Amino acid sequence: MTAASMAMDVKRGTRVGEALMRLGATDSTNERLREMVEQGAAEGTVVVAESQSQGRGRHGRSWASPRGGLYLSVLLKPKPEEASLLTLLSGIAPARALTPLGLKAHLKWPNDLMLGRAKLGGILGEAILRRKELHLILGFGLNANVPRAKLPEGATSLLQILGRKVDVEELMQGILAQLETLFSTFKAGGAEELLREYRILCTTLGRKVEVRTASGNIRGAAVDLTPHGLLVVEDDRGRRHEVADATVRHVA
Ligand code: BTN
Repeated sequence: MTAASMAMDVKRGTRVGEALMRLGATDSTNERLREMVEQGAAEGTVVVAESQSQGRGRHGRSWASPRGGLYLSVLLKPKPEEASLLTLLSGIAPARALTPLGLKAHLKWPNDLMLGRAKLGGILGEAILRRKELHLILGFGLNANVPRAKLPEGATSLLQILGRKVDVEELMQGILAQLETLFSTFKAGGAEELLREYRILCTTLGRKVEVRTASGNIRGAAVDLTPHGLLVVEDDRGRRHEVADATVRHVA
């Protein structure tokens, strides 16, 4: 996409969504925002697209991004040691934003937004160091008005659950407002409070899980979260593992 074909509404600011770039089709909103980081984008800058041709998921997976879904990326500049906890906690925002629709979403650790046993959305956090400053791009994908036939196995959409289309713009504004509140709480020292809320939303805790990490697989019970948001898994021999980045399957 060329600069000329982008529908832009970029205002300078530091609040979430104060600088907002709207795109029709793009490859990946995370990629577009990454380019804007190179041009000095402000914290809180948002890129939203109607569809993505190369939507990215966690662990190199692709993210199905047909029209009707919500695809948005937000730029933050946290302290490096806060980036992974902030990424984890950002999952609270879309969960909160769904309550006006009468939906109680939950989170599968770390960042899968679930309705029942089906995946409704996910978050991809990507960090870049630019001029010694950490830039965290948080990309949110949410299956809003996407028909079931266009979704991968195990996924669901708001259209499928509610049986009607939702207002995607309203949904986006709801998520951005919740992110603004959440980041302010976090910056004001409220990480513990947010972690308590995350624990309530996280249905991985207390479950039997199978965890795939880069250094091997673990089978056991997800018993806790560390203050940094790592998942504590007690394996079948009683050993405790603190997992930073993994794919988790709920087995019971
Ligand atoms: C996951 O694997 O669960 C994370 C999916 C994240 C998808 C979103 S859509 C907007 C942003 N742009 C991307 O290319 N990916 C993220």
